[in-house]
Amino acid sequence: MSKGRFDNPLIAALSGFFDLFRAQPLAARLTSEDSFSGRTVIVTGANSGLGYALAQEAASREAKVIACGRRQLEQTLTSISEKVPQGDVSTMLLDLSDLASIHEFVDNLKANSVKVDVLYLNAATTLPEARQLPNGQDEMFFVNYLANFILVNLLIEAGCLADDRQPRIVFISSDSHQGASEIDYDEFGRFFSYGVSKAINNYSYFKLVLNTFAIELSRRLNPGTVVTQVNVICPGPVNTNIIKEAPFLLRIMLRAIFTVVFKSPEKAALPAIYLGVSQDFENRSGEYLHMFREKQMDEKVYRPDAGAKLWEESMQLWQQLEANVSRKIASGKA
Ligand SMILES: NC(=O)c1ccc[n+]([C@@H]2O[C@H](COP(=O)([O-])OP(=O)(O)OC[C@H]3O[C@@H](n4cnc5c(N)ncnc54)[C@H](OP(=O)(O)O)[C@@H]3O)[C@@H](O)[C@H]2O)c1
Repeated sequence: MSKGRFDNPLIAALSGFFDLFRAQPLAARLTSEDSFSGRTVIVTGANSGLGYALAQEAASREAKVIACGRRQLEQTLTSISEKVPQGDVSTMLLDLSDLASIHEFVDNLKANSVKVDVLYLNAATTLPEARQLPNGQDEMFFVNYLANFILVNLLIEAGCLADDRQPRIVFISSDSHQGASEIDYDEFGRFFSYGVSKAINNYSYFKLVLNTFAIELSRRLNPGTVVTQVNVICPGPVNTNIIKEAPFLLRIMLRAIFTVVFKSPEKAALPAIYLGVSQDFENRSGEYLHMFREKQMDEKVYRPDAGAKLWEESMQLWQQLEANVSRKIASGKA
């Protein structure tokens, strides 16, 4: 697998901490008046951390929220409804490690004629080592990147984006992607074993892949004027469950840093809410916020040739996975 910016989780955590002290000039532009009224907002990975906070904040700003997750859906619904009693919230099952679940999710939206105004692609996993999914893919690669590629393409195909209302797709990414190495197509979609230092490295690298996809998507959806806003955000360091699978001792150390110095998910969600709701982003696409700071992503992310190549390779890999499923069904092994 290719290199990311960090290979030490403690250094990664401390680097995030120093980011907190940089100026956040746009913070004052999100006001209590900014409302999602009349808009449908989907949040992936909404049962925990930032995703939960995004769903709650969007509900309190009058969105019709569909909070998605692979588990704890009832708990999520009850908890958000208690905190935002006037909120319009429902939940839907979406396991991003499972191609069938992604299809079922989109089919359900289509069957119910749901038109999505704001899509928060938030879910991600951070694993201490390589883990292979039943479909043969590396779990972190699939959940953090390829599943998002598939989900977005299926939503577009199904006509589930509210194209007449300039829908917004917000990628929740990480500034750790800066400096990750070029996308390596010899290894793309192939499973390799790796340990904890490589895992944190790969997390950053997969965010670079995700951001390259976001910019290519923005190019394809907006050939002239902006039809669909596709923007990327790093929420900065947030005290969430992202370290839940870290090895025990490391987890204890990281939890202490996270609890004492990192932001709450409620606070960290605000820049992403700003991207999703603010008039400031009307007719703007392909932008990047690092918390509330406008910034450039790694220059590799913006190269049209890199975006086109990633699209082509991702499409091929997806088709291959679909063909494997069809073969299994045909042979009665699915
Ligand atoms: N925390 C930070 O400091 C930080 C910094 C920069 C960027 N981010 C980004 O912020 C986003 C949210 O992460 P977080 O910090 O809030 O961590 P989190 O609390 O662990 O939330 C991650 C969410 O993703 C979900 N998820 C994982 N695998 C999934 C799957 N196969 N299918 C569906 N959902 C799945 C998790 O569900 P389960 O509970 O079922 O696992 C959880 O709801 C991520 O994109 C992360 O990369 C976080």
